[in-house]
Amino acid sequence: MKALITSGGKGTRLRPLTHTQNKHLIPIANKKILHYAIDTVIDAGIKEIGIITNDDCNEVPKAFGDGSQWGVSITYIPQKAPLGLAHVVKISEDFIGKDPFVFYLGDNMVVGGVKRFVEEFEREKVNCFLTLAKVKDPERFGVPEIVNNRIIGVEEKPKAPKSQYAVAGIYIYDSTIFEAVNNIEPSARGELEISDAHQYLIDHGYAVGYSEITGWWKDTGKPIDLLEANRLVLEHMKPRIEGNVNDKSHIAGNVTIEEGAKIINSNIRGPVIIGKNTIIEDSYIGPFTSIQNDCHIRNSEIEFSILLNQCKVLDIGIRIESSLLGTGVEIIKSEDKPSTHRFFIGDQSLVELV
Ligand code: G1P
Repeated sequence: MKALITSGGKGTRLRPLTHTQNKHLIPIANKKILHYAIDTVIDAGIKEIGIITNDDCNEVPKAFGDGSQWGVSITYIPQKAPLGLAHVVKISEDFIGKDPFVFYLGDNMVVGGVKRFVEEFEREKVNCFLTLAKVKDPERFGVPEIVNNRIIGVEEKPKAPKSQYAVAGIYIYDSTIFEAVNNIEPSARGELEISDAHQYLIDHGYAVGYSEITGWWKDTGKPIDLLEANRLVLEHMKPRIEGNVNDKSHIAGNVTIEEGAKIINSNIRGPVIIGKNTIIEDSYIGPFTSIQNDCHIRNSEIEFSILLNQCKVLDIGIRIESSLLGTGVEIIKSEDKPSTHRFFIGDQSLVELV
């Protein structure tokens, strides 16, 4: 069994964060989104991983290397143009060869991993195994039609969905998928759609199995969606205190404090993760918050938020909630006169004031 993981795309809906980094490198609970995908397939016992990258950019190979640190091998497969997910499979045929493989969309996260699906795929001896998740807005996804516990059709982003399910971005195939991706035509938006490849397999009598998943997340582009993924992961994290917590601080619930972090006279109410060398003093950090490395929080309150590396939140008199601060963002009290709010904000940022 091999794995193929996507990491391309422009991440336009996650601007401004994606102006400076690939969306797959944004941290959730202080770990890059793509790192979860890699860990998940390694955890399923897979040792050969192909990662599809944007042709013009090497930040993903730079971040993950050749896989030797995890005892696996990672091969990077550049995609020259965004021609669809079935096109991704098509250009990976040489890498996959005749092996079965997990196709994992790198912006999907699933609590509980994929090992159980790999086992089901092997037990049921199907050609294609889909994972389905119940969603409120199936029209944004590939949607299956299910009759008598069998998938009889799959439509990509249908106007009138035939079920409440989305086909999640975690698929398992044997090599018949190559017959499918080599025989379908581009859709109206000019892409080779993975749903059309699934429909091809169904139409040609191949066995398509499925399983329903819970605890699935897919980015939909708004900060609140990343916060939701962050909440999911933090809830399942094992607490770990490696940094320093002084006597006057109070830690409650599931809290991880990484090496070199200092918690001084503060109240941390989990689930929370505080990154390496971050200093929290005279502050309150509330549930579902991830603060990355080298940040400084002083005399402030933060809840249900994600802060990337090197942020400063100093002496502000308001509570920050439901917020996402990119690398090196500063929110600080100004002593200058006149007393006004001053903003120095990059393109496509969002500030909400009450
Ligand atoms: C893609 C697939 C869609 C699937 C979704 C899951 O959609 O085309 O069938 O349901 O991933 O993440 P996209 O993210 O390209 O809109």
